[in-house]
Amino acid sequence: MAQRTPFLGGNWKMNTTPATALELAAAVATKARAFPRVDVAIYPPFPFLQATVAVVAGGALVGGQDCSSEIAGAFTGQTSAGMLADLGCTSVLIGHSERRHGLGETDAVLSKKLGRAIDAGLVPVLCVGETLVEREAGNTHEIIGLQLRGALAGHSAEAMSRLVVAYEPVWAIGTGRTATPDDAAEAHRTVHRTLGVLYDVRFSERVRVIYGGSVNAKNAADLFSREEIDGGLVGGASLQAADFAAIIDAASLRA
Ligand code: 13P
Repeated sequence: MAQRTPFLGGNWKMNTTPATALELAAAVATKARAFPRVDVAIYPPFPFLQATVAVVAGGALVGGQDCSSEIAGAFTGQTSAGMLADLGCTSVLIGHSERRHGLGETDAVLSKKLGRAIDAGLVPVLCVGETLVEREAGNTHEIIGLQLRGALAGHSAEAMSRLVVAYEPVWAIGTGRTATPDDAAEAHRTVHRTLGVLYDVRFSERVRVIYGGSVNAKNAADLFSREEIDGGLVGGASLQAADFAAIIDAASLRA
């Protein structure tokens, strides 16, 4: 399997204040600068992006937690991928389960968002993952395949060359219930297999597939020790600088 640079994202969701966001961003950037062989990214709330980009000053990737499927116009409350790029953002999350399931975002909309992210020059982190009902019905791998095919529809391998896929089983997010490394690795193999069919094996082997769902300072090293798990997308534990620093350490063991 190809050697892939570890990728570790901190998804802050709707947390932090103007002051705590900058403090956390500065701490993450200082830590990340010491690990140039790990791609570290943070996803602060929109209102704090501009100040965060300034504080991080290239020490880590900074991205939006979402972007619009449209370029500009009468779309109240939305933020375009171009606006993120203009602010100095370098990445964006697409299709987080809190948007798929909380806000009803469809694969068709996510496919458009992916296109906008690429056009704006951002590293897109496409989130996929099954619900508990889907897992218990034995549909985990089918759901992952459907979500990938839906979001990637119409996008060439060349356009998707910076794609990162985050496998985030919905039942593991914010629940303290982490997928076992075996379960996550198996799902990641499904991601790679699907990408291999959609594009080709060489493309698939270059794409980083990261795990999200109750990753913390204690379980990260175990998860990241698996060949298939190229890093993580971390929610709760990314809000504590010390915890996120420990998770960067765990990711760096892959580098
Ligand atoms: P937690 O790490 O809080 O479970 O959140 C995971 C997540 O949703 C990251 O995008």
